[in-house]
Amino acid sequence: MTRKPAKTCKESRSIKAALVLPPDTNNYGSMFGGRVMSYIDDIAAIAATRHARTSVVTASTDSVDFLHPVRNGHSVCLEAFVTWTHRTSVEVFVKVVAEDMLSGARTVCATSFVTFVAIDVNGEKQMVPEVIPETELEKFLFEGAPERARKRLEKRETSKALAKRFGAQSLWQMV
Ligand SMILES: CC(C)(COP(=O)(O)OP(=O)(O)OC[C@H]1O[C@@H](n2cnc3c(N)ncnc32)[C@H](O)[C@@H]1OP(=O)(O)O)[C@@H](O)C(=O)NCCC(=O)NCCS
Repeated sequence: MTRKPAKTCKESRSIKAALVLPPDTNNYGSMFGGRVMSYIDDIAAIAATRHARTSVVTASTDSVDFLHPVRNGHSVCLEAFVTWTHRTSVEVFVKVVAEDMLSGARTVCATSFVTFVAIDVNGEKQMVPEVIPETELEKFLFEGAPERARKRLEKRETSKALAKRFGAQSLWQMV
């Protein structure tokens, strides 16, 4: 596998903004968590693809803590960039900010890391460019990445063991 030249975090910066409307919200007028997670996956995939310039699949999403609700009528803005890569995997940081469109008040509602794996048209894994962090924030995220990646692989082993333990049959056949 050959490796394309390293890229800066700037080159993968991606942004998505949307108005929050009633179909996006629950009975209490706040945005469904699943919708926020779908937006996170969406913008992170764009950033990862900008970096790799090949197709990517989501390998894992780190836990998402919903720190504040995103309200009906407010806007939600997600920003993402690639923080670190290894051989074929790409880590993306995503920040979700809600904005009260009338007052202009902005709140960080969630942050997350999403990991993708680069693949070619045949589904074969592909080497990805390395990352050149430039700013203090980019360097901070870059330096913490190997430890986050180690923990993810540890967690994957637990997930694999659970999947094996439960098998593919319906849970109700097991009780
Ligand atoms: C993700 C996937 C491509 C990994 O393939 P694999 O052959 O099992 O993985 P490998 O053990 O060879 O690892 C390949 C890379 O992925 C990384 N990786 C694999 N699983 C990971 C996870 N759960 N979290 C983070 N990174 C992961 C590995 O660290 C490795 O990175 P590196 O090449 O940079 O060192 C494969 O499991 C897959 O296709 N999963 C389904 C993806 C999908 O459909 N996503 C959409 C949601 S359904």
